[in-house]
Amino acid sequence: MALVDLHGREDEVAVRLLLRLAAGSRASAQEAARRYATKEWLLIGWEEAGEIVGCVGISREGEDTLELHSVAVANDWQSRGIGRALIEALVEVADRAAVVAETDEDGAGFYHSCGFEVEAAAPKAGRARFRCLRGPGAGPVPRAQPGIILGEIEQAIRRLGR
Ligand SMILES: CC(C)(COP(=O)(O)OP(=O)(O)OC[C@H]1O[C@@H](n2cnc3c(N)ncnc32)[C@H](O)[C@@H]1OP(=O)(O)O)[C@@H](O)C(=O)NCCC(=O)NCCS
Repeated sequence: MALVDLHGREDEVAVRLLLRLAAGSRASAQEAARRYATKEWLLIGWEEAGEIVGCVGISREGEDTLELHSVAVANDWQSRGIGRALIEALVEVADRAAVVAETDEDGAGFYHSCGFEVEAAAPKAGRARFRCLRGPGAGPVPRAQPGIILGEIEQAIRRLGR
């Protein structure tokens, strides 16, 4: 397993599939891909045996807040703790920043189990939306998986939006 920077790889089939899995529509997946390609947002992948099987996108929303986007794990790799480990890596790197995400009902359950506070947000296109927050003092993600090597990804996140 490795965490990899997916900048420049937005058009790869595996990455496109993950962005589509995470987004509510093809249009929002394309919009996210554009933001990753222009480096407005940073896209990090989870690689297993040379295959990208999960991803998480990040943007900096002000000095003290990181926002997550495009959280997805390929169907065959779900329910093995990869989604939680991706969030754990981000929370660790976020250091003293708050981490926020906006998501639908399915995502809300996932974030809740990763220790986020979840509250209702304004519905979009008739569908319920939720705002998820991990405050700066919230500590590690529950049942954290040890041994994730962050290396250059950590530095890339620290540079994001600065
Ligand atoms: C949501 C998603 C990223 C989770 O990834 P995953 O690798 O399968 O999740 P994990 O195995 O790390 O599960 C972590 C915890 O979240 C819970 N969880 C996962 N998906 C959930 C869901 N849809 N609803 C409620 N809880 C969920 C798991 O039960 C687990 O909790 P537990 O250990 O207390 O049982 C993945 O299912 C996915 O890509 N879904 C489609 C895309 C999507 O909905 N993205 C929106 C998230 S913002």
